[in-house]
Amino acid sequence: MTPLRIAVIGYGKLGAIHTRLLVESDQFDLVGVVDPLSANRSLATETHGVNGYEYVDEILDLIDCAVVATPTVFHHDVCSILLAADKHVLVEKPITATVPEAQSLVALAAFHRVKLQVGHVVRFDPHFQTAQNLINEPRLIECTRASGYTFRSMDVGVTLDLMIHDLDLVLALVDSPVKSLQATGCAVIGPHEDIAHARLTFENGSMANLTASRTSHTQVRSLQATGQFGHVSIDFMNNEFINVVGVGDALSALDIDPVTASDTVKQDVTQRFFTDLLPQQSVPITPCNAIEEEHRDFHRSITDDVSPIVCGTTGLRVLEVATRITETIKAGTTNEPVSARGPHFENAPSSAETAALYKSHVRGV
Ligand SMILES: NC(=O)c1ccc[n+]([C@@H]2O[C@H](COP(=O)([O-])OP(=O)(O)OC[C@H]3O[C@@H](n4cnc5c(N)ncnc54)[C@H](O)[C@@H]3O)[C@@H](O)[C@H]2O)c1
Repeated sequence: MTPLRIAVIGYGKLGAIHTRLLVESDQFDLVGVVDPLSANRSLATETHGVNGYEYVDEILDLIDCAVVATPTVFHHDVCSILLAADKHVLVEKPITATVPEAQSLVALAAFHRVKLQVGHVVRFDPHFQTAQNLINEPRLIECTRASGYTFRSMDVGVTLDLMIHDLDLVLALVDSPVKSLQATGCAVIGPHEDIAHARLTFENGSMANLTASRTSHTQVRSLQATGQFGHVSIDFMNNEFINVVGVGDALSALDIDPVTASDTVKQDVTQRFFTDLLPQQSVPITPCNAIEEEHRDFHRSITDDVSPIVCGTTGLRVLEVATRITETIKAGTTNEPVSARGPHFENAPSSAETAALYKSHVRGV
């Protein structure tokens, strides 16, 4: 196997992690890192023995592909240079800061017939991968992602910084367009929102509640999903297992009137509740490095000429929903027009139509 020649663009927090893993990888040959700051280039050379470059143009002739880990506001410009030069790109999440920028990258990648992958890395997390096999048509999903203030990713709000991870998971789990959304949030240090709450309702009736904060004194990364299959609870900070409550056959056979049932029957049901009726188990997970798995998928997509698991179009859809959330937060209206259709719909009604419907329907005007 001939390794693919790769560069890391942006040697900050995430760029350093990508660099370390790519140096260790036998699938890639790390040609160098690009960063406008000489201190960062020197650090990369001292730490990993790789060459540093100031501008992306300098390495274009040396590489087959690149990981872009610059601040989000630069994703569009940097990725455009790479894609236009026929280079495959793995860009950190979110794909770009704005929807038109993301649309332009997706079109550019298609035109140049190169892969565009987006770093929604939680898709490769073993907790999520284990849970994904168990969760079937979820009715309710609840996600929380909270951390302390790091002064990083201040170019975007917490929706594009943290909540976007969970939005990607929710859209991967629910096979239906977003029908409506409500959102609220606020800036604590700013300039963008540092706390965000969103509720999505899907065409098929499923719902998702998402909470994200980067001003939280406790770090939380959790997801719960409930449906006909039962209930799955993930604590992404716990590297040992996920909690699963299934639906046992005994539940459908249960025929009691809770009001008139005798104490003996009630006691029996209570005792069997989480063994026979809703059997609870801890499903073990096998820890792995999700970014390493993401790199493997990038490599596979290029060498086998298949779509990466999280392609540019997926990253664009996630950003479209995230943008609806940030716009709703900014507008301070809490509600987006209820009849506005989701990004999965090709022929959305005009905004004038939906606004009129919204006013008459919700406001009673
Ligand atoms: N996948 C994840 O879990 C995850 C986690 C954190 C951040 N991120 C994403 O990674 C990206 C980088 O975040 P970070 O926290 O590492 O930021 P950072 O500020 O630590 O690093 C960004 C680096 O990019 C460099 N840079 C700026 N402009 C550049 C340009 N035009 N060309 C090349 N380099 C440039 C900066 O000098 C800096 O070294 C963001 O898009 C962020 O959303 C992803």
